[in-house]
Amino acid sequence: MPSQNHFDAIALLKADRKVEVLFAQFEAAKGAAKKQALVQSICTELSAHTVIEEEIFYPACRGKVEEGLLNEGYVEHDGSKVLIAELIASAPNEEFYDAKVKVLSELIEHHVHEEEKRSEGIFSQARAAGIDMNALGECLLARKEAILAEYKAGGIPAPETRTFTGHTLEQGKPADNEAPV
Ligand SMILES: [Fe+2]
Repeated sequence: MPSQNHFDAIALLKADRKVEVLFAQFEAAKGAAKKQALVQSICTELSAHTVIEEEIFYPACRGKVEEGLLNEGYVEHDGSKVLIAELIASAPNEEFYDAKVKVLSELIEHHVHEEEKRSEGIFSQARAAGIDMNALGECLLARKEAILAEYKAGGIPAPETRTFTGHTLEQGKPADNEAPV
């Protein structure tokens, strides 16, 4: 019988879907303080999810899960990190804040589908490959607890991308925001 510390890796990662509830609460939220608190929780959960998957779960899947699917997982994570970084650095009264939260929720919805898709998804392929999910689950859980403690003490750090490299982007505004001449 597994010890109390054993936790299936996939069950642990699937539990990260609790962000879907937070996104729904954000849609219904009115006040700035409530919105900011929800975004803080969303960014905490998603940042921890990307770190533990990229440090532990995805490397364990390499060579066992379809390469293209795994690479898409990394790129989807990096896409979400851009929005997470934006949201951490902004406030609910700022323009496009709600839109950034909405687009982040849609990106995550797609990512969850790619990971959890029945028989073809990353999790199904990893399970079918015979990866020891209990051993992996223990590593994921320990790392997640350490990360959450770090975030609590020092805030959410700037996300580290794994696939987006070397771009300097010009920052502008939508043309419809400019006053007519
Ligand atoms: Fe993921």
